[in-house]
Amino acid sequence: MSNTVLVTGGAGYIGSHAVLALLQNGKNVVVLDNLSNSLRAALDHVENICGKRPVFVEGDIRDSALLDQVFSEHAIEAVFHFAGLKAVGESVREPEKYYDNNVAGTLTLLKTMNQHGVFNFVFSSSATVYGCPSEMPISEETKVERPTNPYGRTKLIIEDMLRDFSDADERWNIALLRYFNPIGAHESGLLGEHPQGIPNNLLPYISQVAIGTLKELKVFGNDHPTPDGTGIRDYIHVVDLVEGHLKALDFICEHKGLHTWNLGTGTGYSVIEIIDSFEQVTGQNIPYSFTERRAGDVAESWSNPAKAKVEMNWVASRTLEDMIRDTWRWQSNYPAGYASTPTPTH
Ligand code: NAD
Ligand code: WQD
Repeated sequence: MSNTVLVTGGAGYIGSHAVLALLQNGKNVVVLDNLSNSLRAALDHVENICGKRPVFVEGDIRDSALLDQVFSEHAIEAVFHFAGLKAVGESVREPEKYYDNNVAGTLTLLKTMNQHGVFNFVFSSSATVYGCPSEMPISEETKVERPTNPYGRTKLIIEDMLRDFSDADERWNIALLRYFNPIGAHESGLLGEHPQGIPNNLLPYISQVAIGTLKELKVFGNDHPTPDGTGIRDYIHVVDLVEGHLKALDFICEHKGLHTWNLGTGTGYSVIEIIDSFEQVTGQNIPYSFTERRAGDVAESWSNPAKAKVEMNWVASRTLEDMIRDTWRWQSNYPAGYASTPTPTH
């Protein structure tokens, strides 16, 4: 094995944490990212933490000539595939963009991998494939339902595509990792989430309220069928999440075929519990008011992560307090994310 991993979307939130973990585990890393939702500075921060830097290729996963070049120049052993668009609301307004970027992009990548004889693939899927979940907690056996938006449907289509590839050719070794709600930041306070514009997700929104960039949080609905009426989610620390990727890579290299795992903690928290906990951990006040439910939101979503524990010996070990403390350290250090740092010169 060559020991080199291609990380698509490696300048992004989860991808940059994965790049760091791979480098710290002795892998060589090539990042391919078109910087549509990230800044190259994230990779400078990776280098500041671990003293190593990935090879960076600025480009698009839909560019098959570029992919061909990347696979020709580097002896790639496996691909971590994070590149994709992820804004649910935008996917409703501009579905074509999502099918093109996520589905067509992934197909181009898989075709190039096949041509170059690379068959180890770790895919960023999502709990969104469970649609309106038929049971709680959600296990991998829980029926996959039609996702509630085009973004989610691109994830399900890609999962189906990967299953078909795996059925047709036994050389493919594939991990479908269904993330619950990744939050948090690296404990150094040097890597974190860098949302562009007004954040869609709860934790980035709350941290921007805490730092004073946004005035108050709108809580989407207090009439959900949950104990306090607000939505319940399974928040998972981004560093636990990327540790799951490393375990998945080891697993698929030893156990052929396609494997599906939920990556979550197994515990759900409501929006109100998150606000309370954020206030407690950071000492900041989070003004909020209730508003209408957000279209497409499910009342609750939390995982049964037992399969990942039994098969890969992976568990999420970081607490909600860890997630919030690390989010806040990053947000306080870099109020404008990577835009707070000088423009990188390399
Ligand atoms: P992100 O936007 O921070 O990272 C995605 C990266 O991919 C960005 O750096 C972006 O510039 C790059 N990119 C997008 N389209 C590209 C293309 N065509 N070619 C090359 N690069 C491209 O998002 P993230 O939160 O790090 O998410 C990573 C992956 O995990 C995505 O596939 C996302 O759908 C999935 N996911 C995320 C969450 C979450 O809540 N963050 C949950 C479930 C699944
Ligand atoms: C969490 C809770 C909201 C913002 C989304 C995507 C999903 C996945 C992760 C990738 C919910 C409430 C939020 C706000 C609020 N991405 N909320 N006010 O909706 O579970 O998942 O991101 O696959 O596909 O749908 O996460 O962080 O947006 O919301 O009250 O301003 O916080 O209603 O209950 P969600 P989220």
